[in-house]
Amino acid sequence: MSRTETRIGKLVGLFDKHKPKSLDDIHALGIKTRRIGCGVYRTAHKITGLPVVIKIPATDHQDCRRHSVAEDRAVRSIKRFKVYAPLKKYMPRIYYCDKSTGIMLVHFYKPIKGSHGHVLASVINDLIHAIWPYATEGTGGVDMHSGNIGMDDAQPKLIDLGYFSDYGKG
Ligand SMILES: Nc1ncnc2c1ncn2[C@@H]1O[C@H](COP(=O)(O)OP(=O)(O)O)[C@@H](O)[C@H]1O
Ligand SMILES: [Mg+2]
Repeated sequence: MSRTETRIGKLVGLFDKHKPKSLDDIHALGIKTRRIGCGVYRTAHKITGLPVVIKIPATDHQDCRRHSVAEDRAVRSIKRFKVYAPLKKYMPRIYYCDKSTGIMLVHFYKPIKGSHGHVLASVINDLIHAIWPYATEGTGGVDMHSGNIGMDDAQPKLIDLGYFSDYGKG
């Protein structure tokens, strides 16, 4: 196990033990962060010195927490079920997800630069809409745009899968 993996393991242990509910709680654990992005549901904070991002619900509205829960569930399903095997390599690594707060720890993936990110996102969006049973219901889409794709060296990763789920159905 590399030094980074050991440090990530310790970080997850710290989150499991203290179950932080806010960025303030996280900072109180001695963890330093830098805000790197935000969407409608979560803000994203890179941990200093580690390739790890903390996703924190942007508001107290339950949809923000549920977006994280849905994302965690979608990634687990895609990694687990054979029918989704071709999508497995696009899945991000999720280290931690607290269902009661919606706070997640995920691997950091580099943003896509340039216009090919939009092209890639648009193709992925259309392909998923063609096959995903929930994509045209409820929320009305899977929200695939270049901000929701990151790169792990040359491997694209779908870094926001909150809409890849049936959570709107009950
Ligand atoms: N794993 C990650 N690696 C790098 N940046 C990320 C990661 N996850 C999220 N981000 C950044 O944070 C932004 C918001 O995160 P996202 O999960 O898309 O929130 P929301 O669900 O509110 O759209 C993303 O558009 C991206 O810029
Ligand atoms: Mg997003």
